[in-house]
Amino acid sequence: MPTRKRSIGGVRSAVKPPPAADAPTAVYPGSFDPITNGHIDIIRRALRVFPRVTVAVAYNPNKDAAMFTPPERVAMIEQALADVGDRVIADSFTGLLVDYAERIGAQVLIRGLRAVSDFEYEFQMTMMNRHLKPKIETVFMMAGEQYFYTSSRLVKEVATFGGDVRNLVPDFVLDRFAERLARKSAEKRRG
Ligand code: PNS
Repeated sequence: MPTRKRSIGGVRSAVKPPPAADAPTAVYPGSFDPITNGHIDIIRRALRVFPRVTVAVAYNPNKDAAMFTPPERVAMIEQALADVGDRVIADSFTGLLVDYAERIGAQVLIRGLRAVSDFEYEFQMTMMNRHLKPKIETVFMMAGEQYFYTSSRLVKEVATFGGDVRNLVPDFVLDRFAERLARKSAEKRRG
């Protein structure tokens, strides 16, 4: 790749942008049960910094009390980010996040921060992940302020009790909630 001349602080300097192949691979892990507009906001912000982002659904086959299965969660992520093509890869994993990251050759973990209250939990996870794999860095991105109170857990709870979660999740996720709730009440009626 040719060296480009750039002006930094008025001083001409030769800055060679890294070839795309050298750009770090980033993983955005989470439960994504389901993906919310807050997650989508973080993924789109991450795509301004990283050429590609793997969005990785973490699940524990022994104690996963999720509303959606891992393949359903992956499919919703793919649908929500269909417009960015192969810059986003949706995947799922079980086991340690850092082992998964290493397996796929990722050097960076992306996490979103909403309010200060997220910090304690994120700090603990980051330090534990760093203890396990010191070479893997965690990068934090601030969610847009309209998403500061959006979480999958709250959205699920509100949707389950018939509350309005429009604008907090993509429209097709509203349909998934409706399907799931209809299925649940049919199961209840059958006993
Ligand atoms: O969506 P969440 O619940 O905030 O995501 C948490 C997640 C999935 C990133 C975290 O629980 C995780 O990394 N799970 C995989 C298992 C693991 O590596 N645990 C140790 C983390 S320090």
